[in-house]
Amino acid sequence: MPGAVIVGAQWGDEGKGKATDLLGSRVDYVVKFNGGNNAGHTVVIGDQKFALHLLPSGILTPGCTPVIGNGVVVDLRVLFEELDGLAERGVDTSDLLVSNAAHIIAPYARTLDNVTERFLGKRKIGTTGRGIGPAYADKINRLGIRVGDLFDEALLRDKIEGALVAKNHLLVKVYNRRAIGVDEVADELLAYRDRLEPHVADTSLVLNNALDEGDTVLFEGGQATMLDVDHGTYPFVTSSSATAGGACTGSGVGPTRIDSVIGIAKAYTTRVGEGPMPTELHDQWGDRLRDVGHEFGTTTGRPRRCGWYDAVITRFASRINGLTDIVLTKLDVLTGIEEIPVCVNYEVDGVRYQDLPLDQAAFAAAKPVYESFPGWTEDISGCREFSDLPQAAQDYVKAVEELSDCRISTIGVGPGRDEVIQINDLLHAR
Ligand code: IMP
Repeated sequence: MPGAVIVGAQWGDEGKGKATDLLGSRVDYVVKFNGGNNAGHTVVIGDQKFALHLLPSGILTPGCTPVIGNGVVVDLRVLFEELDGLAERGVDTSDLLVSNAAHIIAPYARTLDNVTERFLGKRKIGTTGRGIGPAYADKINRLGIRVGDLFDEALLRDKIEGALVAKNHLLVKVYNRRAIGVDEVADELLAYRDRLEPHVADTSLVLNNALDEGDTVLFEGGQATMLDVDHGTYPFVTSSSATAGGACTGSGVGPTRIDSVIGIAKAYTTRVGEGPMPTELHDQWGDRLRDVGHEFGTTTGRPRRCGWYDAVITRFASRINGLTDIVLTKLDVLTGIEEIPVCVNYEVDGVRYQDLPLDQAAFAAAKPVYESFPGWTEDISGCREFSDLPQAAQDYVKAVEELSDCRISTIGVGPGRDEVIQINDLLHAR
């Protein structure tokens, strides 16, 4: 049975949770392989809404083992807040597995995220302020604290001390903040040790054994292709590998074990935080997409920047991730728009770009070249077959499919779990 990867094909918030939900009971393991509590999805339990930021969405699917892979950065305070919140609602979370090699977001990483942004001024990234960047920086600098370190107190204290040397200089001398003591950090982290212990595992071994046994493993990417630290709109990116390759490095599973690579794209484009977005709309159309699509961040509540579908970036996402399928979400948000523009190419200083311009200045200067498609007015939320869609909606989807270089296998036509059109099965052998 397959290993499947889900990634965002744009700048995040494409509705990855919905695709995961769709696969639901067919999946034995859901693995978060990158990012931390900068992500966010809202789940509905009974009549209560609950926002999850760190836990993999599989935590709610009975019989599905949720896994936090080695590529994730874990804020232990948030982890246990979310676990406690779910326990209060009667959700059994005892199956959760956390990689012993996942890095911990130490309290000083949060402090540094916020002060650095403030000092960057107009160069700021617009981060979620959760300490993600500094935690990954420590990992790459070989100054990080890993989950496994909690179980060797002497080693833990030594590592914290090492990490704090340069940070305290920076905090005190550059940012005019107070120094952080080793004990306060160690005490905060050690307070979670006993509760964490039953969840800690060699998750690479667990997942490879599961795949050997024929189980289905879903690797759920946080953030998205255009926020990937290597392939996104650097430096306006997150600090992890949000593309399909990250599923392998972030979980310890080889690329030969992945069968489907599913990209999630909205029928239009959104972005939060700073950085270029060629199709961003500053007019009433942008407001309309934001209002109708409820485009406000789950993690920070920030209004999302909205624009028309950008096929240059989804073509790029198809290539970078080797997408086998696209799930096109929120098609219903476009209902009632007379003419729907789609960005097919960019123009930079009079030169046409079929592919993403490589240098930062060119991408920042890119002007979208639009082709417009006739819209539809019929309510499409009841459509369950592709042929149920009005002809104009079918033509829009087909055009987007061709321009994005990947087949569209599922279409979201409304916010409800069942409001989808399934064209091809998302779990398939290569
Ligand atoms: P960080 O991940 O907090 O360092 O933020 C870096 C950039 O990624 C900022 O522009 C954030 O708005 C963006 N970002 C991080 N997580 C998400 C997400 O889950 N959805 C959309 N944007 C995100």
